[in-house]
Amino acid sequence: MKSYSIALIPGDGIGHAVTDAAWQVLEAAAKGSDFALEGKRFPWSCAYYKQTGAMMPADGIETLRGFDAILLGAVGWPAEVPDSVSLHGLLLPIRKAFVQYANIRPHRLLPGVEGPLKAKSFDILCIRENTEGEYSGAGGRVHQGTGDEVAVETSIFTRKGVERILRFGFEQARSRRRKLASVTKSNAQKYSMVFWDEITAQLAAEYQDVEVVSYHIDAMAARMVMAPESLDVVVASNLFGDILTDLGAAIQGGLGFAASANITPDRSAPSMFEPVHGSAPDIAHLGIANPIAAIWSAAMMLDHLGEGAAAAKVMAAIEATTARGIGAAPGKDRTETITAAILAALE
Ligand code: NAD
Ligand code: IPM
Ligand code: MN
Repeated sequence: MKSYSIALIPGDGIGHAVTDAAWQVLEAAAKGSDFALEGKRFPWSCAYYKQTGAMMPADGIETLRGFDAILLGAVGWPAEVPDSVSLHGLLLPIRKAFVQYANIRPHRLLPGVEGPLKAKSFDILCIRENTEGEYSGAGGRVHQGTGDEVAVETSIFTRKGVERILRFGFEQARSRRRKLASVTKSNAQKYSMVFWDEITAQLAAEYQDVEVVSYHIDAMAARMVMAPESLDVVVASNLFGDILTDLGAAIQGGLGFAASANITPDRSAPSMFEPVHGSAPDIAHLGIANPIAAIWSAAMMLDHLGEGAAAAKVMAAIEATTARGIGAAPGKDRTETITAAILAALE
């Protein structure tokens, strides 16, 4: 029997509850199939940092490299560890080290979920560049603490990086409704974003079967609210994609529904699956985190591993659950109630 090794990193806050829920569903999905899942848990988190002085061990990346996939909850506990330390110590280095350059984030309404918009039948696939751009980490501060202080944060866009994420988006569009929206801010940012627009135009000539439109990020933000049904695949830089996908989460009913996959397309390293949301310190001890985003992310993991049938079963169980109204409205149901209903629907 095939067996997949999965690294589990629950992280902080509601990362624990939603990862537990997703793992229960994965184990149940594996039970009725011809594959096995072997999970190994890693306590890497802000609590781990407070004990050891690091978010993960020095050989953490090498340890993860041996797994078939990574399932992550959420990282960050800003009351105790600065976000700039925790995220640059765990989540961001994994994305970069494993060249998980394509961050796929689907936005659509699950059955039974109202969402805040009049539009009900949108199906957007955001493809976020995940390894460079505004998250390059290049920069610095001079004259710190003085009246002359200057802070510089440099965005780095490489032809290789921009071309590969756009190409990934075009391929996704080909398997969907053949529409691609490329998002920049080239009216204000005259180097990187003009460069991105040029590469979009070059690839558009190669993918003539895909309808391509370039949007500015501000106009795209409005379009996602006013006319989300007009969008299919949306490709954006690291920061723009980050912001658009919380907006995408909002229009699909909330952060508890937004799933994501950090994909290493050439499969030279494990891909990582995690909800779009964070550790939600405001509700972390209340037992009301919606586990659907994490469970949907787990379904994306099964699909990536080649277990499409099991992935479809998990999605069907999520949809049957929200269609009954369970987990469909923010804060209404407890994490365990939603998880139990999804497990029952899987049977
Ligand atoms: P957040 O996503 O944790 O929370 C934003 C709001 O959404 C909160 O009101 C929260 O209660 C709600 N929410 C989030 N997930 C929910 C769920 N599953 N069910 C119900 N409600 C949910 O964003 P934040 O408050 O800006 O960040 C908190 C911490 O998480 C910070 O340390 C931040 O850096 C980190 N963070 C981590 C990740 C990640 O690991 N991928 C993503 C985003 C934020
Ligand atoms: C996300 C998160 C992260 C990001 C943060 C926590 C660094 O917001 O996965 O969307 O910006 O990528
Ligand atoms: Mn985000």
